[in-house]
Amino acid sequence: METWDAIRSRRDVREFAERAIVPADLDRILEAGRRAPSSRNIQAWDFVVVTERARLAELSRVWRGAGQVASSAATVALVAPVTEDENARRFVWFDLGQAAVSMMLAAADLGIGSGHAAVADEELARRILGYPEDRFCAFLIPLGYPAGRGLAPIRRPDRRPFDDVVHRERW
Ligand SMILES: Cc1cc2nc3c(=O)[nH]c(=O)nc-3n(C[C@H](O)[C@H](O)[C@H](O)COP(=O)(O)O)c2cc1C
Repeated sequence: METWDAIRSRRDVREFAERAIVPADLDRILEAGRRAPSSRNIQAWDFVVVTERARLAELSRVWRGAGQVASSAATVALVAPVTEDENARRFVWFDLGQAAVSMMLAAADLGIGSGHAAVADEELARRILGYPEDRFCAFLIPLGYPAGRGLAPIRRPDRRPFDDVVHRERW
């Protein structure tokens, strides 16, 4: 897919087909995250990738809006350091967002759907994924081929109008 088509095709997928993602494709998606830019190139992220069905089912219980994790072919957990420093925290979240969207676009490029799932029960996530006490799981990216219609450029995205969002020169 062309980059522009991948950008226009990405949407949050919440129902996945049973089809597996081949390891090379999954690694490409993870590599896209690894290559993402970060504040001072600090790369304060780790990606825990889960493909075992039973573990995915358990992981889907970390938040009531994370049910789609259970049917995903793989889910990437974005794990970052816990910090009391408000400034550092802001940058970590920004950087995680960049890594997330890089992975989602790399997935869309392969025709693979992705979604977001927040984490409410941090302790459950920690028990399932085994990351250390000084880290937290910011969110989950379930991945898989869409169960229904495949990814294709969306003509009318559910977004605020262009001229409402874009301010030229000044607000
Ligand atoms: C930080 C963040 C957290 C999100 N958490 C969830 C979630 O827990 N469960 C869910 O189903 N969607 C979640 N979403 C997905 C948003 O609802 C979705 O991106 C938005 O509705 C736009 O969807 P679209 O790109 O398919 O139009 C989250 C998105 C972001 C950016």
